[in-house]
Amino acid sequence: RILILDFGSQYSQLIARRVREAGVYCELHAHDLAPETIRGFAPRGVILSGSHRSVSEEDAPMVDPEVFSLGVPVLGLCYGMQVMAAQLGGQVSAADHKEYGYAQVRARGHSRLLRDIEDHASPEGYGLLDVWMSHGDCVTDLPTGFQVIGETDNAPYAGIADEARGLYGLQFHPEVTHTRQGQRILDRFVHEICGCGRAWTPGNIIAERLEQVRQSVGAEQVLLGLSGGVDSAVVAALLHKAIGAQLVCVFVDNGLLRLDEADQVMRTFARHMGVRVIRVDAERRFLERLHGVEDPEQKRKVIGNTFIDIFDDEASKLEGVKWLAQGTIYPDVIESAGARTGKARVIKSHHNVAGLPEQMNLKLLEPLRDLFKDEVRQIGIELGLPSEMVYRHPFPGPGLGVRILGEVTKAAADTLRQADQIFIEELRRADLYDQVSQAFAVYLPVRSVGVVGDNRQYEPVIALRAVETIDFMTARWAHLPYDFLDLVCRRIVNEVKGISRVVYDITGKPPGTIEWE
Ligand code: XMP
Repeated sequence: RILILDFGSQYSQLIARRVREAGVYCELHAHDLAPETIRGFAPRGVILSGSHRSVSEEDAPMVDPEVFSLGVPVLGLCYGMQVMAAQLGGQVSAADHKEYGYAQVRARGHSRLLRDIEDHASPEGYGLLDVWMSHGDCVTDLPTGFQVIGETDNAPYAGIADEARGLYGLQFHPEVTHTRQGQRILDRFVHEICGCGRAWTPGNIIAERLEQVRQSVGAEQVLLGLSGGVDSAVVAALLHKAIGAQLVCVFVDNGLLRLDEADQVMRTFARHMGVRVIRVDAERRFLERLHGVEDPEQKRKVIGNTFIDIFDDEASKLEGVKWLAQGTIYPDVIESAGARTGKARVIKSHHNVAGLPEQMNLKLLEPLRDLFKDEVRQIGIELGLPSEMVYRHPFPGPGLGVRILGEVTKAAADTLRQADQIFIEELRRADLYDQVSQAFAVYLPVRSVGVVGDNRQYEPVIALRAVETIDFMTARWAHLPYDFLDLVCRRIVNEVKGISRVVYDITGKPPGTIEWE
């Protein structure tokens, strides 16, 4: 396994995902991890991430020097390379030319890390690599024992190595896809240099999890809240396979789900897979509590609290349940760990668990806790979940509650469901669904005038939103074809009663958020 020490770069999680894609287990931890913890982790290799900080700052983040004498290979990326150079006696200075974006690296042929990896061959016998750079500082003096393994016009030390000690540094980011040979470089590091095998595969992960779950749970019963989202769906499939009828799921239909969603969840789990699912139809209860509530945060609170109340009611009717299962995944863990140390950028609140009553005394079961979303999806497919469910766009916990601006009513929810369904159906038909990261319709209660047939109408507006993003922290609006938008608009105006105007949202994030509330 590989240890990644995080200096807070926006790409740190990406490094971990790439290492996992190479079939190697890794964990991401804060850069100041204590040496005894590092030794306990027993990594086969260490990767130091990038950072928005500068090594020349007074309190620049460092790693414990023991990292370099563990006897395992270390790869520093960007800031990680600079900090390695600085900590081992080299020099780092502000670069004359900051480099952001595309650059071409001339790779020297002899290094173990970059040998035979190239995008183009150069007449001078170098391998040329197209890479993604993002740095303001540069290594200007190498520590003893290091050699140059790559350079650019602006960075004489774009790659460095002390082959004898297994220490490597790259000024560019192999973890981003703009660095075309990035995955090969990381593969080379983890497999050939660190000697890790390719044991981290969906099949192995499932086999290991099944065993762990059976071991910890024994003959006891497990409760799981199904949301319709990917994570809880995969937990359900996994636990069902591990412990069969010892799993009880509760699924709350809050009336704020997408068209047919509740029935689909019941079909997949209860009917096809034979999972025990208790369905609670709570539309009225949610809508009653939401009556007159207009403030977005207040709506989120009401929906979260109502959910907890209902879940509690159902849970307390069940006897002998000892475990509560949750679809926590690795980014949630990383983000909440970051939140404690003040490093997180975004914190998602997991309203569906936070408030469970203490006296339930349930033990927590989180079988996906160390997996990334793409790994969770692969496992879902391997466990036989339908791919429309596994590759569905994310859907917020408060559901349509935050897509109906202002007060939530049943009429608005029904209208929005229809419009949303048309948009999604057409995206699928045009093969655009998988090309956007998230797409949905929003119900705007402002009224606008329209003419349908010979009749003047004065009705609410539907906004369409579609974005492309990797991490949902920043996003660009999807440049959907005009003809496609035209088709969707016509269908909505013709088929959804009470809508005579459709608009398309062209706001990026930032400054907009993805959701409208
Ligand atoms: P924003 O709107 O903050 O959304 O740009 C980023 C991602 O998070 C989802 N989202 C939520 N998910 N509860 C959730 O479980 C929420 O309250 C919530 N608000 C936003 C949103 O759909 C997008 O994928």
